[in-house]
Amino acid sequence: MTDTALETFVRGLPKAELHMHIEGSLEPELMFELAERNGVVLPFQSVDEIRAAYAFSNLQDFLDIYYQGAGVLLTAADFKDLALAYFRRLAADGGTHAEIFFDPQTHTDRGVAFGTVIEGLTAGMAQAQAELGVTAKLILCFLRHLDEAAAFATLEQAKPYLAQIAGVGLDSSEVGHPPAKFARVLQAARDLGLKVVAHAGEEGPPAYVWEAVDLIKVDRIDHGNRALEDDCLTARLVQDGVTLTVCPLSNLKLCGVSDLKHHPLKRMLKLGLKATVNSDDPAYFGGYLLENYLQTAQALDLTRDELATLARNSFTGSFLDDAEKARRLAGIDAYLASH
Ligand code: ADE
Ligand code: ZN
Repeated sequence: MTDTALETFVRGLPKAELHMHIEGSLEPELMFELAERNGVVLPFQSVDEIRAAYAFSNLQDFLDIYYQGAGVLLTAADFKDLALAYFRRLAADGGTHAEIFFDPQTHTDRGVAFGTVIEGLTAGMAQAQAELGVTAKLILCFLRHLDEAAAFATLEQAKPYLAQIAGVGLDSSEVGHPPAKFARVLQAARDLGLKVVAHAGEEGPPAYVWEAVDLIKVDRIDHGNRALEDDCLTARLVQDGVTLTVCPLSNLKLCGVSDLKHHPLKRMLKLGLKATVNSDDPAYFGGYLLENYLQTAQALDLTRDELATLARNSFTGSFLDDAEKARRLAGIDAYLASH
């Protein structure tokens, strides 16, 4: 396929995004606009200066600047604008469904009410569905560098909004904060009817992925790259059909891989792992969903069948109900039959 044919094919391919932190879709332009609107002083003079600061050597480097950027988000309107900007980009990329992470503790710790965050994000989701036909679900992430008590307090704040929340996850600094630290609060969330996911194996060792699977019994693994270091764990993930929400440009920007040509995505597919492609924090890592597909496809020579498998995995691994999954998969089949 030529580059243009590849882009046309992937853009048209119906696909879902399952790993995207909404705070990570805050583009520098919107950051400046919201800073001005809210009277927040940024430590940057220009959009170019912000972009120049986006050179990371690991996850923590990125997180420090990401939490700082989120400081401009104060009102429900801010969260709505943020969400809508993301959904517009997703729709332009041919994305038709998204399950987006949000980090309530980043906001409640600054005095923004939990309800304000939910109000804004759900307003953005409703408008995206009406105007763009894009569906979405919310996943509340607990910050794992904070303690269990803080996670329990956040779950308590979420209780009035459970109808708007599909699941909970674990994000932020992975190493030193294994899934086991949050086993009780994740179980409490599951008892409330929520799905459970966790970042594991992004920078953390295979032991963290084992914990996520065996102890937490997660519904998906976010990243999972380092699981490949353990053949027994890999076999288990294949056997259980665990979906991995892989983020190639994120892995490149956070130096998990030195070049996309060395990215494990193709190997994951060949091993039979249910891998998907996602953007993680697109405003910080230089590409939204389509760009992640395209750059990875070019670097790894992904075939048409592999691209179709990635798109299928994004729906089978989603939290849509079975009838909706079947409808979305039929949409992929129809697309492939005519392209
Ligand atoms: N929060 C936002 N992006 C993240 C990532 N890639 N890993 C862990 N926490 C995050
Ligand atoms: Zn992530």
